[in-house]
Amino acid sequence: MTATIRGATMVAEPELVQVGLGARSYDIVIGRGLIGSLGARIAALRPGAKTFIVTDENVARHLLPTATRTLDGAKVRHDAIVVPPGESSKSFPVFERVCEAIVAARIERGDLVVALGGGVIGDLAGFAASVVRRGLDYVQVPTTLLAQVDSSVGGKTAIDSSHGKNLIGAFHQPILVVADTALLDTLPVREFRAGYAEMVKYGLLGDLAFFDWLDANLKDVFDGGVARDRAIAVSCRAKAAIVARDERETGDRQLLNLGHTFGHALEAACGYSDRLLHGEAIAIGMALAFEFSATRQGLCAKAEAGRVTRHLAAAGLPTRIQDISPPLPSLEELMELIAQDKKIKRGRLTFILVRGIGDAFIETGVDAGEVRAFLSEKLAER
Ligand SMILES: NC(=O)c1ccc[n+]([C@@H]2O[C@H](COP(=O)([O-])OP(=O)(O)OC[C@H]3O[C@@H](n4cnc5c(N)ncnc54)[C@H](O)[C@@H]3O)[C@@H](O)[C@H]2O)c1
Ligand SMILES: [Zn+2]
Repeated sequence: MTATIRGATMVAEPELVQVGLGARSYDIVIGRGLIGSLGARIAALRPGAKTFIVTDENVARHLLPTATRTLDGAKVRHDAIVVPPGESSKSFPVFERVCEAIVAARIERGDLVVALGGGVIGDLAGFAASVVRRGLDYVQVPTTLLAQVDSSVGGKTAIDSSHGKNLIGAFHQPILVVADTALLDTLPVREFRAGYAEMVKYGLLGDLAFFDWLDANLKDVFDGGVARDRAIAVSCRAKAAIVARDERETGDRQLLNLGHTFGHALEAACGYSDRLLHGEAIAIGMALAFEFSATRQGLCAKAEAGRVTRHLAAAGLPTRIQDISPPLPSLEELMELIAQDKKIKRGRLTFILVRGIGDAFIETGVDAGEVRAFLSEKLAER
C-alpha cells in the first residue's frame, strides 16, 4: 500500500476486492479513512440516486454526521432511520419500521439503501432492501470487524424468527462494500476479538500461510494500521472467492461454517446474550472442531489442534466450554440444539472437519454418537 496525503489525514491507497458474480459483481474497497469518499463513490456508481441510511444508535452517535457530510459533499440526497443496537433489532417489528420508513422517504427503484453498521444492520437493511418495491439496491458500510470480514460480503440477509436466528431472509447482494478500517477504532475490544475469530477462520479453513502470518502478527493486527488492513483484505478476498464459487451455499460455501455447528449450539444455549458473542462461540467451536478431528476422527495431528487453541487464547478468545460463565449447558441440551441446527439424518451429521490448519472439508457422515461422546468428555473437563 502506498501512502498518499488527502487533507490532513494519511490515507493509504485502498485495497480492492472484486466479488465475481456475473452481472451482480461488485467491489469491496478497504482502507483507512475511506468513509470520506462514500458520497463520491455513490454519486459515481448511481448518478442522481437518493439514499436511505439504516443505522443503530451506537453507530449513529459515532458516524452518522460523518456519513451525511460525505453524502452532502457529493450532493447525494439522504434520509435515515436509527434503530436500537443489538440482535433484537433483527425482528419483525423493527423490520416493518425500516421498510415503512424507506417507502415514506420516497426511495424508488434506482435509489439506494445504505447499511451503516455491524452485522445486525447489514442483515436488517439488506433484507429490507431485498423486498421494498420488490428489490432495491444497497451499499454496505460495515463498521464492525465481523461485518468487514464476513457479514457485509456475500449477500446473505435475514431477520430472526421465534424459532431461531436468521430464519427469515433472502440472498441479496450489495452493489458496493466500503470498509473503512478507521471506523474500528471506536469498536469495543471484545467486539473486535469476536470479529477476529471469523478472520482467523479463513486461515484455518483454507490458508495455512495466512494463519502463520496472523500467528506472527497478532499484536499488530489488534493494534491497527497496515497489518490490520491487510488481514481484512485477505479475509474479504477469501470470502469473495468462496461466494463466487457457491453463492447459494450448496457446496463450498459451507466451509465457512467451520466451528459453527458447535458454536451455534453454545450461542443458543446462552440465549444469544452478552454471555457469549457469536465470534466467541465460534472460537470455542473451531477449537472443538479441531480437537474432534484430531482425537475422535484421527484426521488431524493433535499438535495442530493445540496450535489453534493457543492462537485463539492469545487473541483473548475463549476456547473451552468452561470459559463460558456458568451455568454451563448440559449434554442433552447441546445435542438437541445441534440436531435442530443441522438436522441429524439417520444418526449422521454434516460437519466441517479438518485434516490440519488450512485444510477443512465437508463431512456429511459424522456419527452423532461420536459427537455426543466427545462433548460428554469435554463437559466433564475441569
Ligand atoms: N449475513 C451474513 O453473512 C452474516 C455473517 C455473520 C454474522 N451475521 C450476523 O451479524 C450479526 C452480528 O454482527 P456484529 O457482530 O457486527 O454485531 P452488531 O451489529 O450488533 O454490532 C456489535 C455492537 O457494536 C456496535 N458498533 C458497531 N460499529 C461500531 C463502531 N464502529 N464503534 C463502536 N460501536 C460499534 C453496535 O452498535 C453493537 O452494539 C448477527 O446478527 C449475525 O447473525 C451475518
Ligand atoms: Zn460466524
